[in-house]
Amino acid sequence: MIEVSLSHPNARITPLNGFPKEIVLKPETEFPYEQRHLQLRNDQVLRYALSLRSRIIGACRNVLKDLGFLEIETPLLFKSTSEGAREFIIPTRRRGYAFALPQSPQQFKQLLMASGIEKYFQLAKCFRDEDLRADRQPEFLQVSRYSEVLQRKPANGARAQLDIEQAFSNSEKICDCVEAIVTQAFKGVLDVDLPRQFARMTYLEAMSSYGSDKPDLRLPILPFKKMGHIIPVDLVRMISSLSDPIVEAMVVPLQCSATESRLLLRDFLDSSEGQTFTRNPDGGPGIFIYESSKPLQGLAAFGFEAVENLEGDLDLEDGFVIVLQARKKVQHSGGSTFLGDLRNRLAEAAIRKGFLDEPSWLHFEPVWITDFPLFSPANISEPGQGGHAGFASTHHPFTSPKTSDDVDLLLTEPTKVIGEHYDLVINGEEIGGGSQRVHQAAMQEFIFRKILKMDDAKVQEFSHLLEALRAGCPPHAGIALGMDRLVAMMASSKFKRKLSMRDVIAFPKSGKGDDPMVKSPGLITSSALETYHLRLRE
Ligand code: AMO
Repeated sequence: MIEVSLSHPNARITPLNGFPKEIVLKPETEFPYEQRHLQLRNDQVLRYALSLRSRIIGACRNVLKDLGFLEIETPLLFKSTSEGAREFIIPTRRRGYAFALPQSPQQFKQLLMASGIEKYFQLAKCFRDEDLRADRQPEFLQVSRYSEVLQRKPANGARAQLDIEQAFSNSEKICDCVEAIVTQAFKGVLDVDLPRQFARMTYLEAMSSYGSDKPDLRLPILPFKKMGHIIPVDLVRMISSLSDPIVEAMVVPLQCSATESRLLLRDFLDSSEGQTFTRNPDGGPGIFIYESSKPLQGLAAFGFEAVENLEGDLDLEDGFVIVLQARKKVQHSGGSTFLGDLRNRLAEAAIRKGFLDEPSWLHFEPVWITDFPLFSPANISEPGQGGHAGFASTHHPFTSPKTSDDVDLLLTEPTKVIGEHYDLVINGEEIGGGSQRVHQAAMQEFIFRKILKMDDAKVQEFSHLLEALRAGCPPHAGIALGMDRLVAMMASSKFKRKLSMRDVIAFPKSGKGDDPMVKSPGLITSSALETYHLRLRE
């Protein structure tokens, strides 16, 4: 770094610091992540992504402040509770005691609601020790993680205690507010107009029509059709050994000849990615190519009735691919089906070949997914609530059942209860999720003890929350938007290429969950083990 003073006749250059000869800074030089400081200094995309991040966060913050939300920080040193995700534990010098980093400020924001704070938001860091994927970081930022209390005596009459049982109208308010934040951020930063009201779809519709609870509605693949009742039994037996399965059909409108479609499908299914689908224990996909020169257009195995049915509903053209996939006749659970995953992967392969139009970088399809089951089968990779019911909360244990019928179902068929939860999905990515909360201590304790079958010790972890709810906590609802995902999506659109969350975080963690630059996590020394009264297992 040099300081140059040109006005003085004896102008001289004063170095402020040295610069090592071995570092060659050219526009095209690529530095490894270990030298993140040089990456950030040299890579214009990263630099711009960070400034975009700051603008997006600023825009969201402004909208929330304009709407009267108060920015409040909540502690990072929390304690371990069975909220759902695996936590990071921070041992203390007090023998046997540990903090935990918050997987989200969920409980604190509910405590704020019980504290009489009407509207709260926070740019909160959340920490989860989970299996990392491209769309996950162990440490991530959630903005507008806010909750809105329904006031007993609203100053402007817009919100009323009367709304307490009108759970849906509470969701409406939250969704409305998020729509305002997101549309203004997209307009201000990308000059993109999103619809003022986003589409809505129930979890069941999303899973049945797109095989995913985060459907990418930009893809030109139509909703799946249930075919089981009209296709011949022989054909069902050919594609699956399940007895009485649900058979769904997906039509992929490839813009190429039947021969090219056949080649694309052959290469795809032979690839390691494709093998995931052919090895499906419910039976691999049955693939058919529509070809007008063939008997029954290449769909003879379907039988006349099914072909007529498909042709009646859809404008089939030569080269279109029809995929039949069987699945068990059971209630949907989880985030996707085999056919849903195949929809995404096949679309990617077809786009790469130019057989499907690539969605424009300025095309956004926001959709609210609602009506999730309140509970899902326990997942061995997630700790859940540690109860003995055989199922866990789909999101977290604080979400309210949707209707009074759902409350009744809690006793008889808990896995059929619908929760008042809403996810914001944009272009196939889950950008946010929130819910109407259980605000009565008795109901919350009932869910912990009788439904999730958590033992005393687990319920005790939440004594602070139960106590606060018992003190007359008002009904409240809230949401959290994943800022890293949102910024990565908006930055990708700006650069017209897919950026990852790592590109929009100054110092992200690697795919293994470590930081190769500062080399964290570090090996724990024996003196630290001693300080914290810990011993490593042999
Ligand atoms: P949830 O767990 O759905 O809800 O998180 C909200 C949003 O945060 C983002 N997100 C992540 N982003 C990056 N890496 C991760 N590992 C990660 N996990 C989640 C997603 C997600 O939609 N307490 C509730 C919110 C509420 O009910 O108010 C919660 O945290 O975009």
